[in-house]
Formats: sequence, C-alpha cells, structure tokens
Amino acid sequence: MNLNMRARIVAGNWKMNTTPEEGKKLVSEMIPMLSAELTGKVHTILIPPSLHLTGLISLFKNRPMNLSWGAQDCSTHTKGAFTGEISAAMLQSIGVSYILVGHSERRAYHNETSTSCREKILRVLEAGGCPIYCVGETLQEREAGQVTQIIEQQLSEGLPERLWEESLPFVIAYEPVWAIGTGKTATPQQASEVHGLIRQWLKIHSSAQTATTTSILYGGSVKADNATELFNMPDVDGGLIGGASLESRSFVDIVKACAR
Ligand code: 13P
Repeated sequence: MNLNMRARIVAGNWKMNTTPEEGKKLVSEMIPMLSAELTGKVHTILIPPSLHLTGLISLFKNRPMNLSWGAQDCSTHTKGAFTGEISAAMLQSIGVSYILVGHSERRAYHNETSTSCREKILRVLEAGGCPIYCVGETLQEREAGQVTQIIEQQLSEGLPERLWEESLPFVIAYEPVWAIGTGKTATPQQASEVHGLIRQWLKIHSSAQTATTTSILYGGSVKADNATELFNMPDVDGGLIGGASLESRSFVDIVKACAR
C-alpha cells in the first residue's frame, strides 16, 4: 500500500461462513467481474476463514487484478504453547497482508479488550503486515451519548504509537455494533460524524500526515444499494463488508461503488 496516499478500500469479511470449496466458487465468480482497472482504483481485500487462505492464495495468484488477502484475527503471542491460536507471522508467511484486529464479535464473544488489541497490532507490525483496527459503539452506548468517549478510548488504548513514530501502515474500520448484521445501517451523516472524529483524534495524537493518509472504512449492513451514499462522504474511504461479501455480484457492486 502506498503510504503517501489515502487508499480507497473494500474488504470482505466472510466471518465463519463457507467451506473451502464454497470459498473457491465465490472467488471464481468474482474474478471475471473484478477488472485490473477497478482493483487499481479500489484496493480489494478478501478475508475468508483462516483455514481457506493457503488454498485460495495459491489458486488465485498470478491474476492480473490486484486482490489482497486478510485474516480475521491473530494471536497476541508470537509462538509457543497457545492451542488453537494462529500467529501474525504464520499468516504473513502464506501471503496474508491484512489482519483484522478487535472486531466487535471478538470483543463481545472472546473478551477482547482494546489493550489486547494493541498487543495484536504489535504482532501484526512485527510480522510486516497491515492491521485493520475495528472500533465502534453499542446501541446502549450511543443512546447514552457516549459515542465520542467510547471511540476515543478504543483508539487510545488500542493503537500503539509505533504506528506513527515509524510511519507503519494501518487501517481503521468504524463498525457501530448496532449496525452489524442487523440491516440497520448508520446514516451517511452518522458515519461521517464518527469518521471525522477518528481523523481528528489521529491529527491530535499522531501527526497531520498520518491523519490525512490513513484510510477509515465503514462497516455495518453495507449493501450495493447504500454503498454509494456512504462512500461519498468525505472521511469515508471504503467499507468492511460482512453479509454482502458472501454474494459475488453484490460484493463487486460495492467495490464499484467505491471507485473514484
Ligand atoms: P454486515 O455487513 O453483515 O453487517 O457485517 C459487517 C461486519 O461486521 C464486517 O466486519
């Protein structure tokens, strides 16, 4: 990724869906619809279950379009006796460039905190990868007027200073928990407000350069028919897509909606 430019990005988080065969079929359907011109304008990242990565990466390498691969999580540790865990270095070694850190489902069901996310981000950076750090408030927090406080806390506890001290690549995804898988999308204004807040936080705590060049993605019930208005907002640089990334046509339409 070119660090001097803010990239337009669409990433498909498949979550715990598809068998390896179904995954191959899904990518095979997308390939003819993703031209090199389109993926040159919109950095397109596929994030299948980790089990599928080796097979998919080897099957779809040497394609003219610019597809990148991501993982949904990694360990806070580098190696050792951590049954069931996968390290950032292992993922990087098979061709995975991006790793999601702190997705709200991991925070909610696996007790992840912003502090453990910080460790994961450090492991991703040590492995030479690019973290996609997810932040977002619950409905209860929004209704209590705590959006700013929650987002700022997730940013300050989760993001290591190394990122801007060493000009390392990272992406932020704003995913309001109440919009994930619910069909309830944030309005473009709501998304834009929080994206602006994140960029302002970066400006204050990192550098103007980092604030200008960091891509901030919106996630939460993005579909082909609402993607354009979300992606047209000034601080929204693309999307992190769940359900709609499991259907080739709708995912590609969302990638197209992000092109400028
Ligand atoms: P949906 O697009 O299914 O709401 O999921 C969003 C998400 O959690 C992506 O990481």
